[in-house]
Amino acid sequence: MTRKLLGLTVSCLAALLFAPVATATPQAAAPVRLVPEPSSVVTLPGQVFTLKSTAHIVAPAGAAATGQYLAGLLRPATGFRLPVTTISLPEDIGLPGDIRLTLGGPSSLGSEGYRLTATPVGVEVSANASAGLFYGVQTLRQLLPAKVEAKTVQSGPWTVAGVTVRDTPRYAWRGAMLDVARHFFPVPQVEQYIDLMSLYKMNTLHLHLSDNDGWRIDIKSWPRLARYGGSTDASRGPGGFYTQDDYSEIVRYAASRHVTIVPEIDTPGHVTAALASYAPLNCDGVAPPLLNPGWSSLCVPLEITYKWLDDVIGELAAITPGDYIDIGGDEAVNTSAADYKYFVNRLQAIVTAHGKKLMGWHQVEAGDLAGSALADYWGTAGSTDDEALAKVAQARGNKLVLSPADKVYLDMKYDANTPIGQDWAGYNSVQDSYDWDPATFVPGVADDVAGVEAPLWTDVFPTWDDVQFMAFPRLPGVAEIGWSAQRTHSWDAYRTRLAAQGPRWDVMGVKYFRSPDVPW
Ligand code: ACM
Repeated sequence: MTRKLLGLTVSCLAALLFAPVATATPQAAAPVRLVPEPSSVVTLPGQVFTLKSTAHIVAPAGAAATGQYLAGLLRPATGFRLPVTTISLPEDIGLPGDIRLTLGGPSSLGSEGYRLTATPVGVEVSANASAGLFYGVQTLRQLLPAKVEAKTVQSGPWTVAGVTVRDTPRYAWRGAMLDVARHFFPVPQVEQYIDLMSLYKMNTLHLHLSDNDGWRIDIKSWPRLARYGGSTDASRGPGGFYTQDDYSEIVRYAASRHVTIVPEIDTPGHVTAALASYAPLNCDGVAPPLLNPGWSSLCVPLEITYKWLDDVIGELAAITPGDYIDIGGDEAVNTSAADYKYFVNRLQAIVTAHGKKLMGWHQVEAGDLAGSALADYWGTAGSTDDEALAKVAQARGNKLVLSPADKVYLDMKYDANTPIGQDWAGYNSVQDSYDWDPATFVPGVADDVAGVEAPLWTDVFPTWDDVQFMAFPRLPGVAEIGWSAQRTHSWDAYRTRLAAQGPRWDVMGVKYFRSPDVPW
């Protein structure tokens, strides 16, 4: 079909968009160094796109939110207007120099895949769904100079190497876990974490909302949980908690970046903050002090335990659009095996009654789990007890999210010289966190792996600078393990691409560890 628009026909415009342009001023563009590595990258030698002040972002109705998001990314540093337009009006048709977002690609792109083409006449990102467009936009962001991340106007040129990218993820679950219980981090910091995750195409944030040291989500029917149980932290500081509105803001912000929030209420252990808040939850009816040292357990025989859980899970489920509620289940060392199994079964019924599926650390496989449950595997290499539970999960059809402590626990030190952090699972160097394969880490369960998660426990990290220092540069490596095809896996190539992220983090103010393993 051809239509007259601005004296040009649509078909002629399309030809213009994809024809090499002899008149384009040749400009240098940074080499293509992307994290995670796409499925396919074909560079177009000698071709460079330069974003100019006259550019539009052309986005049809279904892509408008992604278009606005992209404009919001690009406007501060470029100082350009970058109006976001649909193609319904003649003056809004994509003209040379524009960035065009298109919904509707081959079905092989799935819901998260995209295609991106950058030539001297424009950039086109196409995908089947807005998540795919969003990931194409993250790729475009990384193709632009690092200073595009600045919050104030910078001088250009805003060049992008000529390239065709076709990209789909390896795993559907690409997650991070942030422990806001040991130390509390307020909404803007969680949102910054979400932004940094989404720059690397991660799509799930598991929030560890309760532990011995603090309870971080307001539960209206049990108000002392947050107000008293949340009033301290692992450093004996003042703690803090999210109101339900705060939590909903995090959920909304995450959704705008295609990130799903998975809330965790850790049970039946790691519950001192809850036991301290309500005496009736204790077997002896006596509330321990806040920060009572040692292991803790909910009182499995007491019926009020399940009334309380029903209220907590009910309130949380009502403000959580994602499928999963995480019940923890790790390190229940003060709970007998029989009590543990009984407890997990009862709690599973509560989670189900509130319309959610159960997720837990892989020890929850000791319960009689439904096929829809998801196990978060935090075992270390060759740990036979843990691997046996992974086999139980497999037999039930429970998928595994791989969070192996000796690879991706971001609270482990990088090496012996790291000034902060833990070492019980060894040191996790930048290379360790990248150089493993989720399909073979636990032998025999390759087809049962849903994806990966990088946990960051904050027992010994009171500050947001600490969190950033431990997460970066390891978090992008876990993102790449989750996204990129195994055939692209190469530590040597990865470390060079990772190095290209450093200037970006410098501009963004991310406090990362300048690991000697990376050629910054
Ligand atoms: C854990 O590290 N206790 C799951």
